[in-house]
Amino acid sequence: MKKIATILGARPQFIKAAPVSKAIRKSSDVCEVMVHTGQHFDKNMSQVFFDQMEIPRPDHHLNIHSLPHGAMTGRMIEGIEGILEKEQPDRVMVYGDTNSTLAGALAAVKLHIPVAHVEAGLRSYNRKMPEEINRILTDRISDLLFCPTPTAQQNLSAEGFDHFSCTTILSGDVMYDASLLFRDKARPPGHKALPVNFVLATIHREENTSPKDKLKQLIVALNEVSRDLPIVFPVHPRTQKLISAGNLPSLSKHVHVIDPVGYLEILYLLAQCQLVMTDSGGMQKEAYFFHKPCLTLRNETEWVELLGPGYNKLCGSDPAVILDAFHGFLNKPLVFADGLYGKGNASAIIAKAFQEH
Ligand code: UD1
Ligand code: UDP
Repeated sequence: MKKIATILGARPQFIKAAPVSKAIRKSSDVCEVMVHTGQHFDKNMSQVFFDQMEIPRPDHHLNIHSLPHGAMTGRMIEGIEGILEKEQPDRVMVYGDTNSTLAGALAAVKLHIPVAHVEAGLRSYNRKMPEEINRILTDRISDLLFCPTPTAQQNLSAEGFDHFSCTTILSGDVMYDASLLFRDKARPPGHKALPVNFVLATIHREENTSPKDKLKQLIVALNEVSRDLPIVFPVHPRTQKLISAGNLPSLSKHVHVIDPVGYLEILYLLAQCQLVMTDSGGMQKEAYFFHKPCLTLRNETEWVELLGPGYNKLCGSDPAVILDAFHGFLNKPLVFADGLYGKGNASAIIAKAFQEH
């Protein structure tokens, strides 16, 4: 039996791992060992996903978090190396573009353990994003690259991957699989009465939270938008820390600030909202899965296929640009066509590939 060691540590990775892990459990010739780096550690940033999505309890937990990039990644590499030496897996699997992703891939490749990267080939072409560095490096040291979109696969070809000793597979997007698996279980966040028609907003990107001037602008934009439609704003701990520290404009009473919610609750909010405002990668796609327009609070996106049909508009952090795009979406309803992220069988394709590679 083939042993796969999965390294994960941050919220989006738990969501991506849920359908893949389920598909692996169906396979009789592959088994999985799970390593949680600890990068995300609050109950509502980690445990809730394991509970709601029935992800097996991690076999190892490193409890490494809240450190600068180098220290976090370095300590994770050291911890993962020890576990891989003990577990002797046939292959390591990593998801996405966080520091946990890069640490897992680097620890593995230095021990000559082949690496599979799920969500390979994405590029923002902005090297100031920590995630862009994590993606580029992880792709380069992986030998099995699962691309969520044709564009991602083309990006790898353009960088010469067709000439490297690796295999790229167009799998489709595992977050689409997750949304299909769990959307029937969506449920409202229990703790607070929320408005009926609302905008769903999230902000956590490093570029929007450090330094604070962009967050100031984004709060002004949220307040302006909330004059037309109330906003439900589940706040990431990174952003919450800054809001709690003060020196930012106050949020309007029409912006309903709530703690981060679980996956079933975010699916409910996505299904019920009128529109999404976000700097999250996952939420841009989920807005599309639920046929909701998305204002992206960044200047570039890895999910470029959403831009052409007008499902997603890049707005940066300028309140005037955001407001203009918001009114544009309100005034002109969109017609959505499905299919940009595969057929909902990405996890099955990935699990099957492990039998051959
Ligand atoms: C990380 C990823 C980012 C991803 C995001 C998903 C990197 C470089 N960034 O960003 O790509 O989009 O996760 O949410 O890996 N914190 C808590 N509780 C938690 C988690 C974090 O308080 O459960 C705090 C940390 O102490 C830290 C801050 O939030 O002060 C940022 O956490 P960190 O893991 O460094 O990065 P994220 O912004 O979460
Ligand atoms: N999410 C959640 N609760 C929240 C906010 C987000 O469950 O309060 C989910 C949502 O499905 C999103 C995923 O977490 O796609 C990952 O989002 P995040 O913005 O943390 O990371 P990114 O996708 O930008 O890396």
